[in-house]
Amino acid sequence: MPGIIVVGSQWGDEGKGKATDQMGDRVDFCVRYSGGNNAGHTLVVDGEKYAMHLLPSGILSPTSTPVIGNGVVIDLGVLFHEIDVLTSRGVDCSQLKVSSNAHIITSYHRTMDKVTERFAGKRKIGTTGRGIGPTYSDKINRMGIRVQDLFDPEHLRQKVEAALDQKNQILVKIYNRRHIEADEIVDELLAYGERLQPMVTDTVRLLNDGLDEGKIVLFEGAQAHHLDVDHGTYPYVTSSNPTAGGACTGTGVGPTRIDRVIGIAKAYTTRVGEGPFPTELNNEAGEKLRTDGGEFGVTTGRPRRCGWFDALVVEAAATANAFTDVFLTKLDILSGWDKIPVCVAYDVNGVRHDRQPMSQQEFAAATPIYEEVDGWSEDISGCREFSELPVKAQDYVKRLEELIGTRISGIGVGPSREQTVMVHDLID
Ligand code: GDP
Ligand code: IMO
Ligand code: MG
Repeated sequence: MPGIIVVGSQWGDEGKGKATDQMGDRVDFCVRYSGGNNAGHTLVVDGEKYAMHLLPSGILSPTSTPVIGNGVVIDLGVLFHEIDVLTSRGVDCSQLKVSSNAHIITSYHRTMDKVTERFAGKRKIGTTGRGIGPTYSDKINRMGIRVQDLFDPEHLRQKVEAALDQKNQILVKIYNRRHIEADEIVDELLAYGERLQPMVTDTVRLLNDGLDEGKIVLFEGAQAHHLDVDHGTYPYVTSSNPTAGGACTGTGVGPTRIDRVIGIAKAYTTRVGEGPFPTELNNEAGEKLRTDGGEFGVTTGRPRRCGWFDALVVEAAATANAFTDVFLTKLDILSGWDKIPVCVAYDVNGVRHDRQPMSQQEFAAATPIYEEVDGWSEDISGCREFSELPVKAQDYVKRLEELIGTRISGIGVGPSREQTVMVHDLID
């Protein structure tokens, strides 16, 4: 079972980090393939809590090699801070490999992200402000700075100057911000480059050679299907492809080498930032989910918008990513509800939709049609076998499985590594 992709099936923060960590000890490589430090993945191992932004969660598993693929955008200050913090906590980061084709987030990207959001006012996306969108825009515009550019000072200077010729026009003339000098960017990047150089590897070759030798590669998704720039709730999305196809383009591993695609789904739904969210609860129930689930962003600390499970959202992700399995997280948070509504269809201007509608306008106008499933009152955080779950909790899982059309192979019953009910092995 060599190539396994982990993909978020909602709007992020489903527990991808925990699910990845679950498999960490059994995989040889753990690769981030898209996004940057807009991600925040929380892991709880032996009572210790870790928050990853750029490093693959597999870094906590000493036997797996952590890799940052070409599809990732890297803020080097954040990367080194994360490495330093983990190293001071006794985690070995020395095996980290970084693609020479990955793009670099610079201070002008962060500035552009913040000023465009401020300028957009009511039309803002609610980005994480980490410079993600502007860095991917430069990549697509063929004016990005890549890891490999850091090792040729003259070439780097030319690229930065070319980028700043354009950025300074925009920053100074439109947004009334200060002019950025090429020197300040180049000097900072060259200093970081020196530290980065030993980690830079032909990651395409490394991963494909590994697969040839029968090694197991886990592709750790960030963000989620509905934040995907192609498949998500555009324009309220991130600027990359967190979906399964992004794992191939973001690492240089071809689709025929992928054996499993594991969709991570929260037992309810959350979203951070702007954009449509049919099952959102702006009431006490939403507040209770937020409090019980600790639904505050790992990256920005923003309260997450909360709502009931939306089967159409997860089914759409299951279809477009060809999920082989779903890992359902945070089932423990639903203990104590008498009835749990599950969205099984939408009403869009008087018309029933059993599948996610094709257009954003229709999706934005969707009113959920709920089915009420019986809840359970027991604390399930100590359950380790499916049969140990209360029958009503088992029924909830089975109903979601039917609605999504994909088997639920793992169930999270708490934040710790061991608080998991495995129904089917995720690797064999
Ligand atoms: P990610 O971005 O998809 O990795 O998810 P985040 O780490 O941003 O958010 C998920 C949150 O839920 C984190 O605080 C996790 O520690 C926590 N978590 C993950 N799985 C479970 C679970 O099954 N139960 C509970 N109670 N918490 C969980
Ligand atoms: P993980 O990996 C939740 C959201 C932002 C915003 C939109 C665009 O932890 O699941 P960006 O900064 O990417 O340009 O912001 O995407 N967003 C996330 N929401 N979890 C994430 O990552 C996210 N990464 C980006 O809130 O709405
Ligand atoms: Mg997160």
